[in-house]
Amino acid sequence: RQAQPAILALFGATGDLAKRKLIPALYDLHRKGALPRPFLILGLGRKPVSDADFAAQAGAALARFGAGGEELRDVEPFTRLFRYQQLDPADSQAYAALAERMATLWEESRMETRNALFYLALPPSLYAPTADGLHAVGLADQSDGWRRMIVEKPFGEDLASGVALNRNLLERFEERQIYRIDHYLGKETVQNILALRFANAIFEPVWNRSHISHLEVTAAETIGVEDRGGYFDGAGILRDMVQNHLLQVLATVTMEPPVAFDAAAVRNETAKVLQSLRPITAENIHEHVVRGQYLSANVRGDDLAAYRDEGGVAPESRTETFVAIRAHIDNWRWGGIPIYIRSGKRLPTRVTEVAVHFRQPPHQFFQRADGAAPGANRLIIRIQPDEGILVEFGLKTPAAGFQIQNVGMDFHYSDLGESPIPSAYERLLLDGLLGDATLFARSDAVEWGWRFVQPILDAWATDPEIPLYGYPAGTWGPPETKTLFKEGGEFRYPCRNLTTDGGYC
Ligand code: BG6
Repeated sequence: RQAQPAILALFGATGDLAKRKLIPALYDLHRKGALPRPFLILGLGRKPVSDADFAAQAGAALARFGAGGEELRDVEPFTRLFRYQQLDPADSQAYAALAERMATLWEESRMETRNALFYLALPPSLYAPTADGLHAVGLADQSDGWRRMIVEKPFGEDLASGVALNRNLLERFEERQIYRIDHYLGKETVQNILALRFANAIFEPVWNRSHISHLEVTAAETIGVEDRGGYFDGAGILRDMVQNHLLQVLATVTMEPPVAFDAAAVRNETAKVLQSLRPITAENIHEHVVRGQYLSANVRGDDLAAYRDEGGVAPESRTETFVAIRAHIDNWRWGGIPIYIRSGKRLPTRVTEVAVHFRQPPHQFFQRADGAAPGANRLIIRIQPDEGILVEFGLKTPAAGFQIQNVGMDFHYSDLGESPIPSAYERLLLDGLLGDATLFARSDAVEWGWRFVQPILDAWATDPEIPLYGYPAGTWGPPETKTLFKEGGEFRYPCRNLTTDGGYC
């Protein structure tokens, strides 16, 4: 499907997101011939920049961040798509000039319908004023072409502000015009969870509480807060990673089969399953949540600073850089089984995955060589890195007797060919141009996510007795996370390589 001619109006055009992610993603789409024709990228920002200078900046951003290490070609025809207009998004008077400029560009480039995709690469406090400004000059109106708006997380800082943000945007744009990016949904491997579950017949019959003992969703990062201490200290990992990315991933793993693969059907199921998350209360938070903050350590020869010594972080900060949650989904499919969610900065390895742990056979008469019972079956869905899928099961060790060892059947995306996995932004920008909102977060799902994390945030804010454990950088978080496993066991400690046996690595 080819997207219709349109203008991409890029707010925050000289900012970091535009340079690092959006311009390289647009270039990749251009190279693949996926951009509409005609198509223009109208950069918007407070700085006075000429069209030519903006095109040159885009070329420089590409040289620095583009093409995933591949050779750049056809850059000139790509940068010819760039225009620039000075605009302060907070100035409500500035939008009339934007409407005029866009009218001229639609005309000059002979776009029959006046389609526009507004990308708000802006601080969230500017989303509502920008929606107001666009609406006031008729740019939200769809009578002479489609008008869509892409916004980025954070969608609010808590439940109240998340609801208020949705309300403000929905006063100016309709839900079907609003595309909320959760870049995890743009990851090829997250989309493949849906394919794995619903394009095959062998998984779905066992995808429930009768056959699965527990689920784990992990997003571990080796980096600390880098230069984002100022933002992160006001957010914490629960808001930064769990409320959005990990709950969306969890929803793809646990949702009911949608009636069709379209935006309404898939997002209905997402909202439904997030609604089924059992709220954690101030009374039971101790058994359900462990939080931590990284301490200084020497990791593989590098002296890493403690979180509290990072730039922009308050010296007495109680912001969590690690969280582990024992959650439950109260519905027929998942009722009663624990779902472990874990995310942290400065952990030993960068890995994001879903681990599906199956139940032990009802009667087990085999043993491993060490006399222990064979491990239960596991299905590991590796989101990154070493993207792939691993099924673990027990087989007989070749020798006399019947000793069982664990073996794995694995699939790595890298086996599919040389071409790199498309970036999340590439996929999502194209879907925005095509008008396919399936992989974007809908307002109700965002709010259900906030409803789940809000009681945890409230308990942390009001109860000084809830511990914040320190953990040395380069470890898997506080050892207290083990207390979340009531039935014994502990988190899986994955390695970078999907098929390397678990263990601290
Ligand atoms: C962002 C968070 O949304 O996701 C960052 O704000 C985090 O703190 C990042 O590092 C992780 O994304 P990815 O794609 O590297 O897993």
